[in-house]
Amino acid sequence: MKYGHFDDAAREYVITRPDTPLPWINYLGCEAYFGLISNTAGGYSFYKDARLRRLTRYRYNNAPYDMGGRYIYLRDNSDGKFWSPSWMPVRSALDEYTCRHGMGYTIIWSISNQIEAETRYFVPLGENLEIWELTLTNKRNKTADISAFSAVEFCLWDAWDDSTNFQRNFSTGEMEFVDDVIYHKTEYRERRDHFAYFACSEKLNGFDTQREAFLGAYRGWDSPAVVEAGESSNSAAHGWQPIGSHHVKVQLKAGESKKIIFILGYHENPKDAKFDPPDSQTINKHKVKPIIAKYLQVKNVEAAFVALRDYWTELLGKLQVNTPDEHTNRMVNIWNAYQCMITFNMSRSASYFESGIGRGMGYRDSNQDLLGFVHMIPERARERILDLAATQLINGGAFHQYQSLTKRGNNEVGSGFNDDPAWLVLAVAAYLKETGDWVILDAPVQYENEDGSETPLYEHLQRSLQYTLDRLGPNELPLIGRADWNDCLNLNCFSDTPGQSFQTTTNKDGKVAESVFIAGLFVLAAKEMAEIAGHRQEAGETTKMQQAAAQMEATIWKSGWDGKWFRRAYDDFGHVLGSKENTEGQIFIEPQGICIWAGLGVEDGRAELALDSVAKYLATPHGIVLLQPAFSQYYLHLGEISSYPPGYKENASIFCHTNPWIMIAETKIGRGDQAFDYYTRINPSKREEISELHKCEPYVYPQMIAGKDAPTYGEAKNSWLSGTAAMNFVAITQAILGIQPQYDGLEIKPVIPSGWQGFEVVRHFRNVRYEISVSRKGAGNIVSLVVEGKPVPGTIIPLPTWDVRSLKVTAYIGSE
Ligand code: BGC
Ligand code: NOJ
Repeated sequence: MKYGHFDDAAREYVITRPDTPLPWINYLGCEAYFGLISNTAGGYSFYKDARLRRLTRYRYNNAPYDMGGRYIYLRDNSDGKFWSPSWMPVRSALDEYTCRHGMGYTIIWSISNQIEAETRYFVPLGENLEIWELTLTNKRNKTADISAFSAVEFCLWDAWDDSTNFQRNFSTGEMEFVDDVIYHKTEYRERRDHFAYFACSEKLNGFDTQREAFLGAYRGWDSPAVVEAGESSNSAAHGWQPIGSHHVKVQLKAGESKKIIFILGYHENPKDAKFDPPDSQTINKHKVKPIIAKYLQVKNVEAAFVALRDYWTELLGKLQVNTPDEHTNRMVNIWNAYQCMITFNMSRSASYFESGIGRGMGYRDSNQDLLGFVHMIPERARERILDLAATQLINGGAFHQYQSLTKRGNNEVGSGFNDDPAWLVLAVAAYLKETGDWVILDAPVQYENEDGSETPLYEHLQRSLQYTLDRLGPNELPLIGRADWNDCLNLNCFSDTPGQSFQTTTNKDGKVAESVFIAGLFVLAAKEMAEIAGHRQEAGETTKMQQAAAQMEATIWKSGWDGKWFRRAYDDFGHVLGSKENTEGQIFIEPQGICIWAGLGVEDGRAELALDSVAKYLATPHGIVLLQPAFSQYYLHLGEISSYPPGYKENASIFCHTNPWIMIAETKIGRGDQAFDYYTRINPSKREEISELHKCEPYVYPQMIAGKDAPTYGEAKNSWLSGTAAMNFVAITQAILGIQPQYDGLEIKPVIPSGWQGFEVVRHFRNVRYEISVSRKGAGNIVSLVVEGKPVPGTIIPLPTWDVRSLKVTAYIGSE
């Protein structure tokens, strides 16, 4: 069953009924001001950091699930009937409804009581504000007398404090209402230099800034007393819960339309110019007034919207494909790329499953995510790499997370996730391949953000790999530390105390438990490093890295190979995990993916054996589960992984992030049918038709789909902020379609389904537009390239040596 449909031409998903199985959300903002918005206008906004600069309040895990947002109420003043044109929060039936989630904007449209209402929500580029442009149309054959009320609830900036410290916060809230603009200035009198404003294009009939005055005692957002009465109370908040609500009355003739613009924004004043007059407590509004005036005009709103669309056309235009599969086209050309940009902006901080106060920017996550967005925004990828590297520890280790606002490592979580460092190497390799910006390696970068500690970025990479080599265990495999990619495989934790963090509790000295996954990751990263060193003509380093990779491969074959698949780890007792010797957790997905991606077993058949084991034991129609058999009970020596009931999360769900590793591995041994089949199983667009089971948005990847051991097998959770986005993007575009940026040019090496006759790609790469047409001549994956009519040996289109803007490439694949 579906709850909407894709409109690919408009790059939108159109939700056609508001009661989706879960809130289906979208993101507003691309730079500094961001918002989450659901299909019923729920959600919240923040400036840069969802914890420390939250503008509007949102209560997670609420009932109903999605309550609180950017609400507009309409009231028919002839009979007092009122409704929400976004369905929530009033929830009275709408005659027609659609929600169009697009690239950085959402348009909610409905008809009720013969009044058509369309609200377009977006954040203009370059501004720290959001626009709600409401268009009302009277569909009646007589005049309508309508009231429109806006409503947001302000958060007192620090979302954690806001939801815990009521004894103070109920006394700090302060507002101003000047020239029909509502200003939220809690804590502005002291150390904050920022405030929020909420303005409306129309002359107001009233306003409210005190929540209980607006709602009325014992009422919720579904039936505010002010809306019911049709009159604002012009309340001023002093402490308690500041809100913003405007009241606009409109007379609409039959067929008449009217636009009403609301803008909600954030502004920071210089410390010495906070107040006006300077000795007062009144906000200095000089800078903000012209911005408000600008965006209260329809023509400026329209121009900003067009600019936003053009921005996304440009970004997505960097890579467009035309394959025989519509789900592939849609995901690659629109939604998967868009999701990669969202993970660039949010990492794992703010979604409907990540509260925005828990986790900062993940180190591993952000490095890994970069693989999916680097082609769209190389300059910002560069900045991200330098930010990440500057949090690195002097010993090559990494803070597991950092805060986006301060760009500093997060001490509360600390370090010791022993896979983290290696991801920086993969991120930098991807960046170099995309841009050829070799000078980045010489950029001086701090450690732990300490002045004076700078070394070239290149040395950060060397230390990242040395970190692994300095921490080998009894089998010479890398020590796992607190966890590796699998944050829940906590082999040094041994926690028997409720409430302890599995990630930061370590009751063992960490000198025994080892990870085969990190070993595979090391091989992959060390091989990249060898190439990078080669380009810098550092022959000694190349040899060192090649030898280190070879040595690690040998170790994996010795202690990490189980006969038919790669083992997962050794625990603190030195016992193997992910082996036929185990009764539960016999086979795990991660080492199969990463080791084969790193090239292990590709030549000698062992990769094929491992992948056949994946197909046999782990693959399901809904995707590939993380492990089998699932852990049936809590094991002290395994940690969080065994805390989940079987089939959920790391305990044998289809943890989507890992599936593309297997797709990549399948392409390494040339099995395009199998790779694409796995791709299709978790493709959200393909799963749209089972939305009632899948539950999450059909336009983005979720983190997990319940595995075959779960009672809710096939049900997805934790949509949007997942490494799944970047990894699937890499798997489909680089491994399956085979369009791979390389250090010396663009490689075309497709491993596509046998039934595909070909496909087309437009790829912008190092300022050249490549128009690529792939056409099958026979079975198999052998490639012959023709560039501008001339055959080119090998699979790499060399970087043009002459000034050229575009190149036409034909790639023939197959034996004939
Ligand atoms: C896991 C969570 C875990 C968290 C800690 C995630 O990857 O899925 O269950 O609590 O990491 O950071
Ligand atoms: C989610 C985390 O963000 C990611 O870094 C991790 O690898 C997976 N969970 C698996 O635990």
